[in-house]
Amino acid sequence: MTGIKSKNGLIDQIKKNYWIEADMEQLVIWETRIKLKGDEKESLDTLAYESEEHKFLLEKWIEIMNLSIPETRPRGIPEENFDFSNLDSSQMFDVIQNYEIILRDSYTDLRDIDEPLLKKLVPDESYIDDFRSDMDELVSEEQNHINICQSHIGGFKSIYG
Ligand SMILES: [Fe+2]
Repeated sequence: MTGIKSKNGLIDQIKKNYWIEADMEQLVIWETRIKLKGDEKESLDTLAYESEEHKFLLEKWIEIMNLSIPETRPRGIPEENFDFSNLDSSQMFDVIQNYEIILRDSYTDLRDIDEPLLKKLVPDESYIDDFRSDMDELVSEEQNHINICQSHIGGFKSIYG
């Protein structure tokens, strides 16, 4: 069961995720602004670096699917890049975590997408398994990102999934 029901829905998800990953890649600029130290800084480095890798992976699929790299922000994602002014580091990781959850759930939908729908954009049969395994890898890396954020958020908070 997946939330993606149409070819356009599939394109939308990929473009939105691409944009969120590109935003995440910029997270390092907040390290000095929020004065992150030690493992908080290391964590943000990891999130930013791996988001860039994810962006490249999505670029690969955008190419295979013959789509264009989105040049403007797709609908449904924030107008502005992340703004953590006035937040402390725990609140910052809380905001980031929400996006990591969105990504994890979206990559789960992409991984589990119905084959006939996927074939509309990935005509070469040999790519189908490759797509699912790339998405599966993204799901587990986003889960890891969620865990990283969680470790920096004060107090107990239950997370679905
Ligand atoms: Fe990511």
